[in-house]
Amino acid sequence: MMITIGGGSSMDTGKGIGIIINNPEFADVRSLEGVAPTKKRTVFTIAVPTTGGTGAESTINYVVTDVERKRKFVCVDPNDIPDIAVVDPDMMSSMPRGLTASTGMDALTHAIEGYTTAGAWELSDCLDLEAIKLIGKNLRKAVANDPDGREGMALAQYVTAMAYSNVGLGIAHSMAHTLGAVYDTPHGVACAMMLPIVMEFNAEATGTKFKDIAEALGVDTTGMDQAAYRKAAVDAVRQLSIDVGIPTKLEKLKEEDLPFLCESAAADACAPGNPKHATLEDFEKMFRKLM
Ligand SMILES: NC(=O)c1ccc[n+]([C@@H]2O[C@H](COP(=O)([O-])OP(=O)(O)OC[C@H]3O[C@@H](n4cnc5c(N)ncnc54)[C@H](O)[C@@H]3O)[C@@H](O)[C@H]2O)c1
Ligand SMILES: [Fe+2]
Repeated sequence: MMITIGGGSSMDTGKGIGIIINNPEFADVRSLEGVAPTKKRTVFTIAVPTTGGTGAESTINYVVTDVERKRKFVCVDPNDIPDIAVVDPDMMSSMPRGLTASTGMDALTHAIEGYTTAGAWELSDCLDLEAIKLIGKNLRKAVANDPDGREGMALAQYVTAMAYSNVGLGIAHSMAHTLGAVYDTPHGVACAMMLPIVMEFNAEATGTKFKDIAEALGVDTTGMDQAAYRKAAVDAVRQLSIDVGIPTKLEKLKEEDLPFLCESAAADACAPGNPKHATLEDFEKMFRKLM
């Protein structure tokens, strides 16, 4: 039996270890990238998240950083899902403000990308929309260390994880993985910085979904046309991110790194789930908005 206690990094490390213990033919973790045909389940795992964030305690994924190749890659494998998840806001109460904010914005990115991804459907939509409402109500309070806010965020990150794990994400995650691998940008910070930029890019491919997102974040959309409610959804996300102290620029981002960043984001496992195809030029334009 294995008990994994910690944030996404600890739980994901446990997932990779458990898979390799029971499927030793995949001893090189790089061979597990993407959908790996493992035959056996991981060792019996109890996962205890301590960030309010990744939802890795219930997802089908784990993420590995390949330091040599400056890549973070995603492994998708139903055999890695922990047997038991203990989701307790008390385990998250020691998080400092910045970590609460960034991991909470990661959960919002899961909910919004999961709600608008190509594979979204009625059941995942229920979970993602509820998570967006919970995050809109609770993230600012959680950052202020309010116990109700912490509880709401513990629930929200778990609820959306059950959805996105089944339907996929999008290019905010592809670009966040790349920034994490190249600059060591914390995952939640990278997601939060990319989310409104990617929402603006995706807006035209999302039907009326941004109206639901704006309303879930507390915006009164009465009388708004499509362009207005789409803008309102992006503005509400941007405001929440600013309120919880997430930066909007990444000073480390260098001009000469752009070709690698774009290639790497385009090759990421989350890219095909995006509602709108992004070319290398599109990725470059979006990365440039962080400069
Ligand atoms: N498996 C999945 O489905 C999934 C989903 C999203 C992200 N991820 C991955 O998860 C990783 C990020 O995980 P994360 O955002 O939870 O952060 P993390 O696990 O990397 O933790 C960040 C830091 O916070 C510390 N920390 C954790 N809990 C704390 C607490 N309660 N109090 C004080 N400090 C605490 C850790 O020791 C670490 O230094 C990334 O690699 C990301 O790609 C995985
Ligand atoms: Fe994430």
